[in-house]
Amino acid sequence: RLRIAICTGGGDAPGLNAVIRAVVLSALNRGWECYGIRDGFNGILSPKSYPRGGVIPLTRDTVHGITPLGGTIIGTTNRGNPLRYPTLLPDGTVIERDRTDEIVNGLAVYGIDALISVGGDGSMEIASALTRKGVRVIGVPKTIDNDLDGTVATFGFDTAVAFATEAIDRLHTTAEAHQRVMVVEVMGRYAGWIALNAGVSGTAHAVLIPEIPYDIHKVAAKIKSREAEGRPYSVVVVAEGARPIEGSVSLIAPKEAGRAERLGGIGERVARELEALTGRETRVVVLGHLLRGGTPTTFDRLLALRFGAAAVRALEEGQSGVMVALDPPTVRYVPLEEATRRMKTVPLDSDTMLTARDLGISFGD
Ligand code: F6P
Repeated sequence: RLRIAICTGGGDAPGLNAVIRAVVLSALNRGWECYGIRDGFNGILSPKSYPRGGVIPLTRDTVHGITPLGGTIIGTTNRGNPLRYPTLLPDGTVIERDRTDEIVNGLAVYGIDALISVGGDGSMEIASALTRKGVRVIGVPKTIDNDLDGTVATFGFDTAVAFATEAIDRLHTTAEAHQRVMVVEVMGRYAGWIALNAGVSGTAHAVLIPEIPYDIHKVAAKIKSREAEGRPYSVVVVAEGARPIEGSVSLIAPKEAGRAERLGGIGERVARELEALTGRETRVVVLGHLLRGGTPTTFDRLLALRFGAAAVRALEEGQSGVMVALDPPTVRYVPLEEATRRMKTVPLDSDTMLTARDLGISFGD
């Protein structure tokens, strides 16, 4: 009879609540107890901030009806990684402290036998450190960016791509009606999975991703070639981590540059530069956190439920130090280190990339 705890760390992703429900029900159905740690590990590290408890019991009632809900009922945070916790010293300087020992002790105080840590690369790194300190931990991969290694997909990604695709569809009609260039910026700090998959599905004309430094002149040439074919409008998808080729000078006038930065980073820069190069009216839409909210798609719900249940089965089998991973058609377990050794970026020879190129989508290269 195990007493387990679950925590969710990093940016939220549609499907987190489905994981929680699957973990709680799978545990209760085995006669175990299940607890939720509030706001990442803050429920343990800052217990005084939680008058009703930083570690709360999760019951059938707590997880009733939460499968389709966005967010996470136990909270999350991407501030205050316990491996490098920012701490203010009396002299005003801020240092980073390893506070994982406090988590080990905190779990012992609550009599927790094992932890299920749901999160991205940061959470898997913490899970790995806790494993080395003797805690039984199972990781569950989560990020809308899909950049976590060791798993074919993370939950939240499909929902983000579906939303971005719908947005691109909508932008097509207004782009055509006004004969404009519509630039849509999507999340993806290190990898272009969302931009690529939504860009191909939504038939964008150019897709700029972190994996391929872009030449803005090549993107402008694509827009102009469409004009020459009688299609004086274009849709350009930009991942927030996309970067111009080395040595390229911003085409935005210095007095405009500050404004562009304030307005939204790379999407704004691309839009202003394309406007300058093509002479065509350009608008920018930043989807940002809209991609992280709302109801998970059926795929993400099912994946999240499968991941949660598989994490509990792993504990029952006596496993620790592993992450649940999608390896179609099944889920398997991979060492936590496999998830953290590198970011999973888009392979440039992947079938989806080849498809995009066959369809004539420009990557600005
Ligand atoms: O979940 C990852 C991510 O979506 C990144 O693409 C993005 O840069 C980041 O979250 C933003 O998160 P926040 O605004 O919560 O710091």
